[in-house]
Amino acid sequence: MQITPSILEKVGDTPLVSIAMSEYENINLFTKIEAYNPTGSVKDRAASYILRKLLESGEIDQETTIIESTSGNFGVALSAYCKYYGLPFIAVVDPFITRINEMLIRANGARVVKVNNPDARGGYLLTRVQQVKDLMQEIKNSYWVNQYENPLNARAYYQSLGKELCFQIEEIDYIFLGVSSGGTITGVSQKIKENFPNAQVIAVDVEGSVIFGNESRKRFIPGIGSSMKPKILKNALIDDFIITDEVATVKACHELLEKHNFFVGGSSGSVYAAVQQYFADRKLSQPVNVVTIFADRGERYFDTIYNKGWLDNIFKIMRETAISA
Ligand SMILES: Cc1ncc(COP(=O)(O)O)c(C=O)c1O
Repeated sequence: MQITPSILEKVGDTPLVSIAMSEYENINLFTKIEAYNPTGSVKDRAASYILRKLLESGEIDQETTIIESTSGNFGVALSAYCKYYGLPFIAVVDPFITRINEMLIRANGARVVKVNNPDARGGYLLTRVQQVKDLMQEIKNSYWVNQYENPLNARAYYQSLGKELCFQIEEIDYIFLGVSSGGTITGVSQKIKENFPNAQVIAVDVEGSVIFGNESRKRFIPGIGSSMKPKILKNALIDDFIITDEVATVKACHELLEKHNFFVGGSSGSVYAAVQQYFADRKLSQPVNVVTIFADRGERYFDTIYNKGWLDNIFKIMRETAISA
């Protein structure tokens, strides 16, 4: 009998599941269910790998305070793995953090520092980064994970998610990956291209995110998109990108639950909507294997994507913005 010493050692080896795309000819769609990771998202891979490598290399020690600006899954994952490794953790968040994520981060004993003043662009990104820098000044032995620039973030996905995919499937023709910090797509694309040089890597982003050159606009669904261009993306091997909107994301989440029994988070809806959008008018003469990642589970979105009152409100805001634009 093989016993695992801690639940947090069970990162990865997530199932690859097929989704029937009966309305589309010649598409075999497969998705990695990342909610099977110990803290419930793809971010377990980055958090566990980065901390382990930093401890092994001596770049951090048991006394180092880990700091990161994050309102989402990365904060939840870091809080759990920092606790596991006995490292103090400070999550710098803003008022947009969901109630559930804040509770999860606090439940793992992390300190939460919430910035309240918007930056010159009206968002909180720059204020959060300044807060991180102030904390680094204050706490002598501290380390800023900085997922948008840290090469270990991409390396984590090369070593785990990318490798697993290469073992789990015989051929990949297309892979669709949501982008936020860029860690997943950078690491996975590098690994996939080594094994399947002809695979087409399609990045998925949402309207209002600046990653692929669009204008910054208020976004409502966390986990996908960014209001700055992640530096680690320069090493990503991306063939094409597709921009979905948040209405399509919400509809896709609900369709995945109704038709396919997947209860997933926002970015999973975005990538599913992107696959539908991409192949809507492409005729395929032979079957192709299309792979994607469902990065987390629906429970974290009970207050948002799966809450009728919240949906009515954001759809109203979107309609008003569209009329005044
Ligand atoms: C739900 C979800 N999907 C997708 C991503 C994108 O991953 P990455 O930051 O590696 O680009 C994240 C990252 O936080 C996420 O939380």
